[in-house]
Amino acid sequence: MGATLSMARRLALIDRARRRDAWIIEDDYDSEFRYASAPLSAMQGLAARADGEGPVLYVGTFSKTMYPGLRLGYVVLPPALVGPMRRANVRQFREGDYVLQAALAEFMHGGGYARHVARMRRLYARRQQCLRDVLGTGTRLIGGAAGLHVVLPLDTRDGERRLVAAAAERGIALAPLSGYFMRPRGQPGLVLGYANATEAGIERAGGWLARRLRRLR
Ligand SMILES: Cc1ncc(COP(=O)(O)O)c(C=O)c1O
Repeated sequence: MGATLSMARRLALIDRARRRDAWIIEDDYDSEFRYASAPLSAMQGLAARADGEGPVLYVGTFSKTMYPGLRLGYVVLPPALVGPMRRANVRQFREGDYVLQAALAEFMHGGGYARHVARMRRLYARRQQCLRDVLGTGTRLIGGAAGLHVVLPLDTRDGERRLVAAAAERGIALAPLSGYFMRPRGQPGLVLGYANATEAGIERAGGWLARRLRRLR
C-alpha cells in the first residue's frame, strides 16, 4: 500500500518472530527514496544482538536506485545464515557478475552513488508532487512518505475495472490495486507509480484521471 510500518508495529513483529522462532524477510526495496521525515530504523538493526544474530533477513536491491537490468541486490544476514546462503547463491547464480559488482562498489566509494540517489530523490519528490497537484486535494492518496508510488483507493471493484479499461483505451497503463491481493476480494484502487514518467506525462495522464474521478463523484 506504500505506507511505512510504524516503530511500534516493527517492534511487535520482531517480538512475534522471536516468540514463534520465525524469520522476518525485510524487503526494504525503495526506502532510499524518503521525502518527508527522518528514516525509521530497519527491523534488521532493531532486532540484531551485539553478535549480529537476530530473526531478520534484510534484503535490498539496486533496481530502484540504479536500474532493474543491473540485476544487483544484497542481503544482510544473521551470521548463522551466511554460510548456507553463500552456498545457495553459488548454486543458483554462480556468484553473479563480479565486474558489475566491482564497478558499482567503485561508484559508491567515489561518492557518485550517494549523489545520484540524492538527485533522484529530489526529482521523484517533484514528480510525486506533480501527481498530487494534478489529482487535486479532493483525491485521497495513501502512502507517499517514501517509495515510488502512491495508492488511490476506489469504492468498488467494478469502478476499478472500468477505470483501468477506459485508461487502456487512451494508452494509459493504470495498475489495479486488487490484483496485488492474495484474497479474491482485495481493496479496489489504483497503484500510481510516478518515477518512470515525465512531469508532462504525469500532467496528461493524471489530468485525464482527475476528470474521470470528478465525473464518478
Ligand atoms: C516488493 C518488491 N521487492 C523488491 C523489488 C526489487 O526486485 P529486483 O531486485 O528483483 O528487481 C521490487 C521491484 O519492483 C518489488 O516490487
